Amino acid sequence: MNLITTPTAPIAGQRPGTSGLRKKVEVFKQPGYLENFVQSIFYALEGFQGQTLVVGGDGRFHNDVAIQTIVRMAAANGFGRVLVGQRGILSTPAASCVIRKHAAFGGIILSASHNPGGPDGDFGIKYNTGNGGPAPEKITEAIYANTQRIARYLTTDTPDVDLGTQGSSQVGAMQVVVIDSVADHADLLASLFDFERIGALLRGGAFRLCFDAMHAVTGPYAHEIFIRRLGAPAASVINGVPLPDFGGGHPDPNPTYAEDLIKVMFASDAPDFGAASDGDGDRNMIVGRRFIVTPSDSLAVLAANAHFVPGYAAGLKGVARSMPTSAAVDRVAEKLGIRCYETPTGWKFFGNLLDAGQVTLCGEESAGTGSDHVREKDGVWAVLFWLNILAVRGESVETILRDHWRTYGRNYYSRHDYEGVDSAAANGLVAHLRESLATLPGQVIDGATIASADDFSYTDPVDGSVSSAQGIRIGLADGSRIVFRLSGTGTEGATLRVYLERFEPDPAQHAVETQKALAPLIALADRLAGIKARTGRDAPTVIT
Ligand code: G1P
Ligand code: ZN
Repeated sequence: MNLITTPTAPIAGQRPGTSGLRKKVEVFKQPGYLENFVQSIFYALEGFQGQTLVVGGDGRFHNDVAIQTIVRMAAANGFGRVLVGQRGILSTPAASCVIRKHAAFGGIILSASHNPGGPDGDFGIKYNTGNGGPAPEKITEAIYANTQRIARYLTTDTPDVDLGTQGSSQVGAMQVVVIDSVADHADLLASLFDFERIGALLRGGAFRLCFDAMHAVTGPYAHEIFIRRLGAPAASVINGVPLPDFGGGHPDPNPTYAEDLIKVMFASDAPDFGAASDGDGDRNMIVGRRFIVTPSDSLAVLAANAHFVPGYAAGLKGVARSMPTSAAVDRVAEKLGIRCYETPTGWKFFGNLLDAGQVTLCGEESAGTGSDHVREKDGVWAVLFWLNILAVRGESVETILRDHWRTYGRNYYSRHDYEGVDSAAANGLVAHLRESLATLPGQVIDGATIASADDFSYTDPVDGSVSSAQGIRIGLADGSRIVFRLSGTGTEGATLRVYLERFEPDPAQHAVETQKALAPLIALADRLAGIKARTGRDAPTVIT
């Protein structure tokens, strides 16, 4: 092996967002682009000589090419061993699991999550630390700083490794082990859930499951876990073969993009339980028969029913949710007498709380739920959690939700996304809101009294680090809430997210259609922010 030191120069715009660096494939294909970022990661780390690096991705277009580049660079930089998923496949939660189980120094995950893939689609890369979770801001900022002053990267002249076959080989002094992409993760999940009981439910014939892998990374995980280990009929998994372009779809499990699943679950002969996961397998959508569960409610239901699940039967240490996520789980925490933490958007903020043993479950309104079993949100985990609850309670998804609302009240909740908005217009909208924050409290608009208005700032209870400007919160006197923030994961223009929430304690009012229940708040959001006027959009692109 010859070590090659390649001169290079900084590339503008390599700042990682909410979940790493995401750009169009064509951007990543530019000479030196990936190499600069990977070397900037390695320059930001200390003490990895001779240690293990985990590498894998969601199988999207360019995944295999990028992995070969990273393997060569890891060898040149002095890693002792690389563990890579077979065919380059590791779902994000599986990568987290593998990092932890094999005590790796860290891992590089190649994914643009739920963003479309293919030659014209998106690509992404992020670094996870030895706890299995996304690198904290201190490291991502150091990586970014390195991208701005990089002068060379290190690689080797070794040939590609065979990613198709499990086994071990050498790249210079470094060992490369191609591992089973699914086994470690499946074993971990089997240790948490009652596979006997879930298996009996799925094999019994009376209960039918439909899991939509959206042609993304969870296909192999779903086959191994639901079909092979739990014995569900093969037809229970749809779109189960990962494709580099996700079959041309948008692998985001929400009612708009998971149309195959929605069609199945709203048919007259709908199965009992439907679920989907996203491009890299960390998100989940839960659907009952003609009944969609909002992610915020799902987190609350999991917390309230955790005692039915072997891995959580001993009780929850605490729970955490991202700020824009509804307060449904707060009510469960209160009843359980445990603490509920409110963090900024993005999974990395849960890591410290999980590591410090402060929380067991956490979740986001964006269809992410997880626990202390890994340091990422976990789509298949959430599906198994629901199946375990359904197997024990023997009730339908809808019955469980209606019962939950009767007990805790209902947090009507919706998110309106305006995608691909002109960046200047979106920034102007947020700047205008920020400027008006001080004048809003006390104002009465269309009969609604504004009680509070701020820009969310978070002080990490474990390490004291402060993250400011995390979203504009407008609180109303009746407890309703509107949150505005700009997405940190998009690759085209800006995405404005508007989060709407209203609490309804009265069970007689729990059957109202969500958008109807939130109509006054939706109108108020437009009045406060001037969404239509500033973005030129009449309606949101996606409503979840
Ligand atoms: C979005 C979600 C956020 C999630 C992230 C990664 O980020 O809102 O909850 O953690 O994707 O899956 P955003 O685009 O809003 O910055
Ligand atoms: Zn994802």
